[in-house]
Amino acid sequence: MNDILSSFIVFEGLDGSGKSTQARILANRLEQSTGGKVVLTAEPTDRPIGALVRSVLRHQVCTTSRALALLYAADRSDHLFNAEDGIAGLLDRGRVVISDRYFYSSLSYQGVTEDMSWLRSINDYPHPQYVIFVDTPAAECMKRIDSRGEEKELFDRIDYLERVRSNFNIVFETLPDGVEFLKVDGMEPVEVQADRIASFVSL
Ligand code: TYD
Repeated sequence: MNDILSSFIVFEGLDGSGKSTQARILANRLEQSTGGKVVLTAEPTDRPIGALVRSVLRHQVCTTSRALALLYAADRSDHLFNAEDGIAGLLDRGRVVISDRYFYSSLSYQGVTEDMSWLRSINDYPHPQYVIFVDTPAAECMKRIDSRGEEKELFDRIDYLERVRSNFNIVFETLPDGVEFLKVDGMEPVEVQADRIASFVSL
């Protein structure tokens, strides 16, 4: 499947990169300019499969790296196509959907341990119209994660995040034509990044 979903915007980046902040700012701005048509969502989702993923991330449930990759992919199928509030249905009903993470996270995070062509095959989902990569060095991300004072999740380790960052850069080199891609420097001030993102997205 190489379809592209119009009016679907995805933010990607490492934990602590600032992508969630940027997703929220863009959602607020587009909410004003589109007159309330925006839905901000995230992966892992807050639905049952996403909750299971989070319990693995918090070390409450132990499983294999392969099973976790399959859970992320299953959560994504549900996120896209569930009959209640799936992304595809929301887009059909004229909404603009912004997701904090999508399958590029699976290729980059699970790509550290799992085979890339297998990951691509279980994540054969449509691409979004826009991909925004908030690129922040792993050392800075770790500093921000530490300053939150929360329990560390499964992938919150500098050596792992370095490898994920390099995977993101590889994955974004092979986006199909028609996907609009922007990389922003996560070390720049929040408002500077936000302005770049707002002028990139024309909806
Ligand atoms: P994150 O965006 O950090 O969620 P939250 O801010 O709510 O904690 O995502 C949780 C973790 O899951 C993060 O370490 C990235 C990882 N992840 C993957 O490894 N693969 C995936 O496909 C997705 C969506 C996330």
